[in-house]
Amino acid sequence: MTITLAKSAGFCFGVSRAVKMCEKAAESGPCYTLGPIIHNTDVIRYLEGLGVRQLDSVESVKPGDRVVIRSHGISRAEWERLRSAGAQILDATCPDVARIHRIVEEESAQGRQIVIIGDKNHPEVQAIAGWCRDPLVFSGPKEIEFWIEAETNIVDLPISVVSQTTGTRVLFENSVNTFKKVCTKLKIFDTICNATSRRQDEAASLAKQSDAMIVIGGRHSANSIHLCDICRAHCARVHFIENADMLNRDEFSREDNIGITAGASTPAWIIKEVNQKMSDEIKVESSVAENEAAIAEEAAETVEAVENAAAETVESFEEMLERSIKTLYTGEKVTGIVAAITPTEITVDLGTKQSGYIPITELTDDPTKSVEDIVKPGDEIE
Ligand code: F3S
Repeated sequence: MTITLAKSAGFCFGVSRAVKMCEKAAESGPCYTLGPIIHNTDVIRYLEGLGVRQLDSVESVKPGDRVVIRSHGISRAEWERLRSAGAQILDATCPDVARIHRIVEEESAQGRQIVIIGDKNHPEVQAIAGWCRDPLVFSGPKEIEFWIEAETNIVDLPISVVSQTTGTRVLFENSVNTFKKVCTKLKIFDTICNATSRRQDEAASLAKQSDAMIVIGGRHSANSIHLCDICRAHCARVHFIENADMLNRDEFSREDNIGITAGASTPAWIIKEVNQKMSDEIKVESSVAENEAAIAEEAAETVEAVENAAAETVESFEEMLERSIKTLYTGEKVTGIVAAITPTEITVDLGTKQSGYIPITELTDDPTKSVEDIVKPGDEIE
């Protein structure tokens, strides 16, 4: 048996950032997330242990509550409701998602029809829909064809198309091609995030060379479900599990080449547990094999390779994090992303260990202006 772990398996930048924001917020007392911060029950249980509670709606927010916005983002209306409820907002909206909010807001303001390719029940899509006027949401080419058939005068309709960040490229391209057949004023924004593209490409090539694939991810995680679909297109045996407890080792044979990948909301500790369980299997098989010595040697090499791969995953993640943490010097002019807004100041993510804070008095001399008139979360600011 050989086991290959995808390098891209596990937390993406946006999810990692959201979880860290929750951990940091919990250091100063109880705080809340609007809905589950990510689609992974183990991580949510871990954060609950730190004092991070989940609220189902903005209506439950009380003045002064610290509320972390999840990486999926929220609609403009929810932002406004949170502000009027007096919440202290900590924005963990992934910058890739915030970029889509800006695109649909601007395109919609120009009078264009917004089309979102994605799952209309997914919180990311619902949030995107809340930043533009009367958007259309299609799951793929079939629904687009039905819409085209039912509509009149769409040849000259100015349409701007975006994708859910975790959509598959094939689905997005097929959807866009369906529009291209009839629409002449199409603007296409490929908003599938880089982390998703990389993970999907690697899953496809690993699935092609594997007898079985193990995909680790939450049942409700859109990107994990897409990973399964991609693997199934290239590999007959795909096992979708949430954690090592769901792994049935009897389903794998000694001859199998096994690939492992994981969705963006799967923490490294769960990937390691799955690796460990498969590595134990290799050790058991080795003891009953005919050529004991040869197989034991092979298994040991595989175990080492798996452990190295797991260590590499953690190392490369930590290295990536380390690289992303800059050092600032007094007097240096830097650009950051607006992460949170209160009535008196804004918090700016500078890519450093500490956030930057700008009081409203430094943003404007006009006392009639509020912070929201000048900047919004996700904006770049110097
Ligand atoms: Fe962001 Fe892409 Fe992850 S949109 S949250 S980096 S899957």
